[in-house]
Amino acid sequence: MIAVEGVVKRFGAQAVLNGVSLTVAPGEVVTILGSSGSGKSTLIRCINGLERLDGGRITVDGLDVANPRQLAQARRLSATVFQLFNLYPHMTVLRNVTLAPEVVLKRPGAEVEAEARALLASVGLADRADAYPAQLSGGQRQRVGICRALAMNPRYLLLDEVTSALDPEMTAEVLAILGRLVSAGTTMVFVTHEVEFARRISTRIVFLDHGRLIVDLPTDQFFADAGGMAHPRIKQFLSKMTPVGGQS
Ligand SMILES: Nc1ncnc2c1ncn2[C@@H]1O[C@H](COP(=O)(O)OP(=O)(O)OP(=O)(O)O)[C@@H](O)[C@H]1O
Ligand SMILES: [Mg+2]
Repeated sequence: MIAVEGVVKRFGAQAVLNGVSLTVAPGEVVTILGSSGSGKSTLIRCINGLERLDGGRITVDGLDVANPRQLAQARRLSATVFQLFNLYPHMTVLRNVTLAPEVVLKRPGAEVEAEARALLASVGLADRADAYPAQLSGGQRQRVGICRALAMNPRYLLLDEVTSALDPEMTAEVLAILGRLVSAGTTMVFVTHEVEFARRISTRIVFLDHGRLIVDLPTDQFFADAGGMAHPRIKQFLSKMTPVGGQS
């Protein structure tokens, strides 16, 4: 389980996360919604141990991310795909996917390569294994990013606006892959603006507003009643969202 307890993160005088608590149990898909600047990416970075906490605690399967030795172990349990495709530009698609399992997990090259090719095939990129990132479209790059995360066989997959830089067609491609991962039981923490998609795949929806987690509800309840809509901030947020074309 990922457990976020009373987390405070400040940048200068600004409390970007202000007492955030959240749990994600195996098998859950938890979507984090919230306006730009509400702290979503910061929360993901804190779970990864990329930011020093100013208060509270985060554990991944009991491992405290504030403790460097435990963080190293925790990082093997979760993998993150970011908004911008952080692929290594000087490495082929295949190498981008095989690097961490070989170097970090020290697994045998042949085995890792076979798995990487299967992953790439599963996202329709079997024939792009030897291409370089610059030769791919944005949607293809993001699919490679997802393969790279999955190659670590993570228990938790963290996704930070993986479709926000993509056009609608590429967004649909990437969402289709995420939908399949959810069907396969992958545990996810999903930061997105694709509200309709989130509604279909999430176990729970949480809403961040100015660094505070103001709502944490099962998906149906979030959209159905009180939960979401009674909150003026959430109502305002949802009213600005456009449904995903052809997805619902
Ligand atoms: N390294 C940093 N130094 C200073 N301020 C930062 C830093 N990183 C984030 N912030 C500030 O923290 C706040 C939350 O940023 P964050 O990136 O978490 O928002 P977000 O919810 O992910 O927004 P978006 O939807 O635009 O991605 C913003 O006001 C941002 O300017
Ligand atoms: Mg962000």
